[in-house]
Amino acid sequence: MTLMKPSYVFLLFLLTLAPGIWAVRSPAAAMARRAALEDGIGQTPQMGWNSWNHFGCNINEQVIRQTADAMVDSGLAKLGYVYINIDDCWAAYDRDSQGNLAANTSTFPSGIAALADYVHQKGLKLGIYSDAGPRTCSNLMPGSLGHEEQDAKTFASWGIDYLKYDNCNNQGISPQPRYDAMSKALLNSGRGIFFSLCEWGSDDPAIWARAIGHSWRTTGDIQDNWASMTSIADANDKWASQAGPGGWNDPDMLEVGNGGMTTEEYRSHFSIWALAKAPLVIGCNISSRSNETKGILSNQNVIAVNQDEHGVQGHKGTKCNKMETKKGPAGASITARWSSIGLDPATVVDVHDLWTDEVISSVQREMKQTVDSHACKMYVLTPK
Ligand SMILES: *[C@@H]1O[C@H](CO)[C@@H](O)[C@H](O)[C@H]1NC(C)=O
Ligand SMILES: *[C@@H]1O[C@H](CO)[C@@H](O)[C@H](O)[C@H]1NC(C)=O
Ligand SMILES: *[C@@H]1O[C@H](CO)[C@@H](O)[C@H](O)[C@H]1NC(C)=O
Repeated sequence: MTLMKPSYVFLLFLLTLAPGIWAVRSPAAAMARRAALEDGIGQTPQMGWNSWNHFGCNINEQVIRQTADAMVDSGLAKLGYVYINIDDCWAAYDRDSQGNLAANTSTFPSGIAALADYVHQKGLKLGIYSDAGPRTCSNLMPGSLGHEEQDAKTFASWGIDYLKYDNCNNQGISPQPRYDAMSKALLNSGRGIFFSLCEWGSDDPAIWARAIGHSWRTTGDIQDNWASMTSIADANDKWASQAGPGGWNDPDMLEVGNGGMTTEEYRSHFSIWALAKAPLVIGCNISSRSNETKGILSNQNVIAVNQDEHGVQGHKGTKCNKMETKKGPAGASITARWSSIGLDPATVVDVHDLWTDEVISSVQREMKQTVDSHACKMYVLTPK
């Protein structure tokens, strides 16, 4: 699929049993945004994998290597999933004699630099994790508060490409100076490193983080269930106007493939993240992915919406009316009217269904679709 000129492409999203979401692409959305870091990183939302949602603290270098292998062998790497990100619990409990962070020698005996080499040789990038406090969320390793310059240099010397920076044990200090210190240290480290702020949206980072990082969490942690996923999507929606090339709202990592939702629910989860220009950071065990999981994560039509160069975040428009939502588990009939997405009703469009890959030719005024419970349909409308 080619996303054509932004003024000619409209994206329509229908979702049952949560507020209906309608995303619109239009030139009006290309509003002025706060200055970005302008280091060329994060021009589209980051794509990759992170260890936390599936493995938690149960990680080692074998898991990271196997994931890098699986990313390439599955074909996901080719689709843009480039970052292999290690989350909490990779380091030794204490700093070394020079005060440097050091890998846990029993779980990462080869060291992080060797792991970075391995990942780079596969054409992928390696991410790591620290915390803007004296210890990380697990309390099993040191954090970087007060050690920002030293730790950023350590990461750069290892060949790290991405830092997720958490907010536990924050000493009650406001996030802005703590995250700003790490941002400066990374810029000063001699290596281009993607800076992913993870302060859980507590101090509205969408308003200030574009100037210091490439993405910022807008919510608390996602859980692998429908209620959590949809409530996080709703909370993230508020900040849609702040996203754009160089800086992205982050409603947390994907749960697709972790087992807590149905295939249809995961399809909705992935679709919402894609149109919200959210990071597509896979959170399952890629080595043991099912065909269904692979099918969702590798839909190129949907990925193209996420990676579209204009970077306009879709947002919630017209909600389902009461009659539609009351139909409940049986599914709902949803009518999408051109007028409610700012399109002249007389406009004749071709409708591309991004999940079935079918094109319905020459549609005018409105489209009526039945959408199953917790399912979604996603279309690109191209005026003829
Ligand atoms: C390294 O990790 C192992 C397994 O999680 C843990 O038992 C051990 O205490 C850690 N070692 C250090 C030095 O932190
Ligand atoms: C991940 O998948 C691999 C390959 O199937 C399997 O050996 C491993 O036990 C899995 N790990 C977890 C924690 O699910
Ligand atoms: C998964 O897909 C592959 C390739 O399309 C196919 O060979 C295999 O039978 C499928 N497995 C299942 C369990 O559907």
